[in-house]
Amino acid sequence: MYNSNDDSILLRVLKLLKSHNFEYVSGQDICDKLKISRTAVWKHIKKIRALGYKIESRQNLGYRITRQTLLPLPWEITSDLKTKQIGKTVYYFDTIDSTQNFASKISNQNNSGAVIIAQRQTSGKGRLGRRWASPVGGIWLSVILHPKFDVSYTTLFPIASSLALCIAVEKTLNLKPELKWPNDVTLNGKKVAGMLVDIAIESNQIEYLILGVGINYKIDAKKLNASLKKSDHFYGAGSLLKKSQVANPTKLIQSFLYELEQICNILDNGSVGTIIKKWTSKSSTIGKKIPVDTAGSKMNGKAIKLDTDGALVISKNGSEHRLLVGDVNYLRIR
Ligand code: BTN
Repeated sequence: MYNSNDDSILLRVLKLLKSHNFEYVSGQDICDKLKISRTAVWKHIKKIRALGYKIESRQNLGYRITRQTLLPLPWEITSDLKTKQIGKTVYYFDTIDSTQNFASKISNQNNSGAVIIAQRQTSGKGRLGRRWASPVGGIWLSVILHPKFDVSYTTLFPIASSLALCIAVEKTLNLKPELKWPNDVTLNGKKVAGMLVDIAIESNQIEYLILGVGINYKIDAKKLNASLKKSDHFYGAGSLLKKSQVANPTKLIQSFLYELEQICNILDNGSVGTIIKKWTSKSSTIGKKIPVDTAGSKMNGKAIKLDTDGALVISKNGSEHRLLVGDVNYLRIR
């Protein structure tokens, strides 16, 4: 596990190499500056290479970085991050059971905004108790929040978060994703990302909230679709990037965290109208005749709007029905 607050020798070696901006640094300089042996330098260089950085070594010249890593490592995310609070601390795992589990273990008042990222999850959780396949190539992350906004916005929050991701994808990848009610981000009609929320409530106030975000960033969609259990809700999984594309996920993550912070500010101010308007403009759900099942009973109607609590308003035979999904998992209500 790596943490953005780490101050290990490995990170100091990396920082030193980076500060030389693709120029060589001699092995002796690294030894002197960090007060470590030549063998230690070599060992750390090996580890840094294993993290995906390309480092050239030349006799008499030393070492230089020639290529950045493509892994969303904590210090890469925190550097140049434009947020005030979200993402100031990042934890990164190669493999974890679920980032939601880790987040709920460490959540306390002091780590609001902390982000947990994993390259792969062995027990990824999806909405409504489903399993979430989390192979290498995706972005699997959780954000711990102690939001100020009113508890009544809890059910709108995951929907608003999918809007934040949609905006970040547009800005950083130059794609045109859509939003499918409740929390899905889609590309060419296939699901490329989903959100879930675990929440603890104390005296009718949000004690803490953990937003879980699963992004099929660069995955083998064919293989994933073949492995998934086809429920009634299944409409196919996609991937934001193709296998052949080389891209760094860090920019997308940074942009998402920034947009998420904007969403939280809007909810804090209570101006949900802005969120509803933006979500609607990117929605593939509104205006469509859609089958929706609620607690076992199936309905067909026309989706006409999103309510301020995240409910989808459906018109059927001249009357309106509200659909609210049980998307938020209540960890504790006291
Ligand atoms: C959905 O079913 O649409 C929501 C999926 C959310 C998956 C993410 S991946 C990171 C975080 N950790 C988990 O175990 N689940 C969420």
